[in-house]
Amino acid sequence: MKYQNEIQKRRTFAIISHPDAGKTTLTEKFLLFGGAIQVAGAVKSNKIKKAATSDFMEIERQRGISVATSVMSFEYEGALINLLDTPGHKDFAEDTYRTLTAVDSVILVIDSVNGVEEQTRRLMQVIAMRKTPVIVFINKMDRDGKQRFDLLEEIEKELSISLHPMTWPINQGKDFKGVYDLRNKSVRLFSANTKATDEDTISISDLSSSLLQEKLGERDAETLREDVELIDGVYGELAVNTYLSGEVAPVFFGSAINNFGVKEMLDTFIRIAPVPKERDTNKRKVGVGEDKFSGFIFKIHANLDPKHRDRIAFLRVCSGRFERNKYFHHVRLDKDVRFSNPYSFLAREKSVVDDAYPGDVVGLFDTGNFKIGDTLTEGEDFFFTGIPTFSPEIFKEVVNKDPMKTKQLEKGLLQLTDEGVAQLFTQFGGNKKIIGCVGELQFEVIQYRLLHEYGASLVFNSLPYFKACWLTSNDPKKLEDFIKFKGSNIALDKDGQLVYLAQSEWFLNTERTNNPDIEFHFTSEVHK
Ligand code: G4P
Repeated sequence: MKYQNEIQKRRTFAIISHPDAGKTTLTEKFLLFGGAIQVAGAVKSNKIKKAATSDFMEIERQRGISVATSVMSFEYEGALINLLDTPGHKDFAEDTYRTLTAVDSVILVIDSVNGVEEQTRRLMQVIAMRKTPVIVFINKMDRDGKQRFDLLEEIEKELSISLHPMTWPINQGKDFKGVYDLRNKSVRLFSANTKATDEDTISISDLSSSLLQEKLGERDAETLREDVELIDGVYGELAVNTYLSGEVAPVFFGSAINNFGVKEMLDTFIRIAPVPKERDTNKRKVGVGEDKFSGFIFKIHANLDPKHRDRIAFLRVCSGRFERNKYFHHVRLDKDVRFSNPYSFLAREKSVVDDAYPGDVVGLFDTGNFKIGDTLTEGEDFFFTGIPTFSPEIFKEVVNKDPMKTKQLEKGLLQLTDEGVAQLFTQFGGNKKIIGCVGELQFEVIQYRLLHEYGASLVFNSLPYFKACWLTSNDPKKLEDFIKFKGSNIALDKDGQLVYLAQSEWFLNTERTNNPDIEFHFTSEVHK
């Protein structure tokens, strides 16, 4: 393998969580360890404020600033870590899901007080579908949260994943005393804002030692002994292959704000997290160590600021070496393109890069050449697969307010939905245009952009659907009958694929039961 050393260094991952669980705080601690930032608060200032109004221009302004935090690359202990941001508050969109197709693993942050929350459930469905390796960080142990065993059970049940504790907490809330490292058999005593030096760590080779009692008190020492005996008996040593196959998630307990338990996790992460690996295409598997470059676009960021009307396409490098100013093949357009100013995101500065390797993400200036899922190669014709379109969760009908601008409206809708933040459907056998999004904010963005960029004005009428399901069947007659029968709930997506728009879970389940020969899919591949 030509670029073996570069590939082995890379760890490309995302931190996912429900808003407020501590993703930003944890990200910041990682960057501090990586030396990519010097002061706490640097990431926070880029975060979309949760108290933000529905004023999306303000959110966009902040999002513009946060392009630089879309990918944060830093080095730690010889590893080159690419951390991809997954927008979470009002800017939650399909992008957030799709970013997960560009990473090799994830860290899931769970708030010990709130347990598993809605957004985590949604994101974990995508993770499970792709069998992405997960490490869990149970945060805010300094607060009175749920009982640890209950919490583990809740996470396992709700997210359908087996857990494997790597550290074990000694109390929680105001009595939180620290964590026991089950692998290294040592106790790290809790102190706020630790620099994670070794002075608070005591090696306990024997849990019955009096040192433990001395440090924790008799009652807590005894509880820890009992807990550890139980956990060791149940779990034993982590089998790293079960983590890599997405079956078992190692769990750490800590407090991100106090920088407690973070280093233990980061050290384990660089030890076990997967390096970039081969990827599927419509023709063959592309090995990560192949000499020739290939990569795909997983996200397009359009800046709404009229002063900086730039569009950035995010490319994940899958094989070979990406080079500045070199011609690559844009497979869908069958044309050769080159980039004179590709960005990289090392140390959170957007800076021009000369080359990039598998696992890296490069930002490309785009004037409208890219769609989500586009593949670049050194000439070979294939598309990367496994880059799905996800079912939207909010649906609205497009009502054209200016018939003179119908053409502009249609063009604008096609172009904006190519960017991947919203999906366009057309009612089956009719003309009604339906926009589907994952987050409410996107409708405002679309309305604004259509007016300002295309001169088209529209309003949205809410529709009572909760999911779009792509339909397939081995029995064309059954599918035809279903379409006839369900006429008003059927639409076509942009590629002309049949979609059933379900009003509720109940309707969907009923249709599934009544039509066993039809398959209902919540995702659709960008390339078939
Ligand atoms: P997010 O990116 O997942 O949305 O969460 P973020 O890191 O912004 O954290 C949400 C809130 O939780 C913040 O408080 C943060 O300080 C707090 N937090 C993070 N980790 C811990 C922890 O280990 N223990 C405790 N007790 N709190 C934690 P905030 O008041 O919303 O913001 P700020 O005023 O502190 O900036």
